[in-house]
Amino acid sequence: MHSRISFALPLALVTFGLASTASAQDMSGEQLFKQRCGTCHATVAGKPALMAPNLRGVAGRKAGATDFKYSPALKASGLTWTPETLDQFLAAPSKLVPGTRMIVSITDAKQRKAVIDWLGTQR
Ligand code: HEC
Repeated sequence: MHSRISFALPLALVTFGLASTASAQDMSGEQLFKQRCGTCHATVAGKPALMAPNLRGVAGRKAGATDFKYSPALKASGLTWTPETLDQFLAAPSKLVPGTRMIVSITDAKQRKAVIDWLGTQR
């Protein structure tokens, strides 16, 4: 049963390593949004856009479609916000839309998905 013991230890270390970052990993899309996006973006219908466009109903919408004063780059992007384009945008906004004023990215793919899924519920 030697192999069993030598296998168990690294596994325990891995589990411990994951547990120590659990706070960020286990946050819901809503919590992540509030923490990482909510200072600039509202999702409450009708709330005026001050720092950033209101993201209520963003899923399925054309990029740059609210009355927010967008960058010319985002306006001209011709994008429609699907889970795929949102994923690319949030991974690296200025890579998908060079010249955009949206500078915040989410590097973790799972966290991106959580936020995008949650945005999809904000109809
Ligand atoms: C520092 C303020 C700020 C933060 C924080 C921020 N954004 Fe933005 N976001 C902007 C601005 C400004 C724009 C408009 C960009 C432009 O005009 O090029 C934008 C645009 C967007 C758009 C396109 C909206 C549209 O109507 O086409 C999406 C989607 C978006 N942000 C999602 C997010 C998400 C998700 C987060 C959190 C991970 C986030 N943003 C965090 C400022 C911010």
